[in-house]
Amino acid sequence: LKILHVVGARPNFMKVAPLMAELERRPRFTQLLVHTGQHYDERMSDAFFRDLGMRAPDANLEVGSGSHAAQTAEVMKAFEPVMLRERPDAVVVVGDVNSTLACALVAAKEGVPVAHVEAGLRSRDRTMPEELNRLVTDQLSDLLLTPSRDAGENLRAEGIPESRIRFVGNVMIDALRQQLPAAEALGMPERLGVPRGGYHLATLHRPSNVDHAGQLRAILEAFAVLAETVPVLFPMHPRTRKQVEAFGLSGALGATRVLEPLGYREMLGAVAGAALVFTDSGGLQEETTALGVPCVTLRDSTERPVTVDEGTNTLLPDRSREAILAVVERAKAKTGRIPEGWDGRASERIADALEATLGGGAA
Ligand code: UD1
Repeated sequence: LKILHVVGARPNFMKVAPLMAELERRPRFTQLLVHTGQHYDERMSDAFFRDLGMRAPDANLEVGSGSHAAQTAEVMKAFEPVMLRERPDAVVVVGDVNSTLACALVAAKEGVPVAHVEAGLRSRDRTMPEELNRLVTDQLSDLLLTPSRDAGENLRAEGIPESRIRFVGNVMIDALRQQLPAAEALGMPERLGVPRGGYHLATLHRPSNVDHAGQLRAILEAFAVLAETVPVLFPMHPRTRKQVEAFGLSGALGATRVLEPLGYREMLGAVAGAALVFTDSGGLQEETTALGVPCVTLRDSTERPVTVDEGTNTLLPDRSREAILAVVERAKAKTGRIPEGWDGRASERIADALEATLGGGAA
């Protein structure tokens, strides 16, 4: 069974790494890895390959940045000949980035089975590019591998037949569990000069937070107030850095410590040692829940409700300076449990599902 995996952007790498390692152990599979090049900075891509022990991609499409339409189209144009040359038995796409949608569409049109890892998540906010990517990718996919029970319910509500849906759990947690000892060994709090368990960690990159000067200013001002008493570390996404500069908001950061984007292990170590995480990322909502670290999600909605219902996540739709400052103590007090299927074995269940679906029954 020849599997072609697609990765494009930072949140894809930690989902594909454990799955490729699992398929490597199963003689029925051969694998190819295609990197679309949506993310290309050393700190957004190469650092993750190293940390996660991934082999170099068999092809890099080098599409780079662009508008949604341009980026999606470039991925499609570059991916099609590679896929047609390789003729895989299935294309595996993960998550919800533009590369996910683009490659699912190319494969589906050529009749190549598509498996979507992390299927069924819905924010119900169609102003998010990721929501559109998720909706369309799931419609096109033959095998929908869900990370949580709510995801399966979303798919059924959209009329997707049961036979295409498999609950496999959260594959990102496989990577987290495998890498946590190495991440802890880095001693990130000490390296960053902050007290273990006594600092805040912030990440931000969603258009809804960083593309509007007033909204971005409110968040940065809240961080600056917090940073007067508790260190606030802010590894900054390149997109956010661009916007802070364009809006002339560097001054609003106050004592917040801006860092370069961190690698996978560095970030995991930094999250594990934090008192509280502020984020608009999907992955960090899950990683904080898996680690039992309190998290405030600065968004109107979440496609990962299990992190709020069962985990340590607090959703904060009101991102005014006052609301952010007011939520801190309540958010820090929140405890949670580990959701079903976040047990480090999702990649095994995905491999089983691929074998059963493509190979006519588990070997
Ligand atoms: C993308 C995903 C988003 C994911 C995020 C994680 C889509 C629609 N969005 O958003 O779901 O949460 O990745 O990071 O697919 N840039 C660089 N270097 C890079 C990559 C990007 O400088 O290696 C800058 C460029 O200015 C680029 C901008 O960041 O225009 C945005 O990059 P893009 O891949 O379009 O979207 P992200 O905001 O990273």
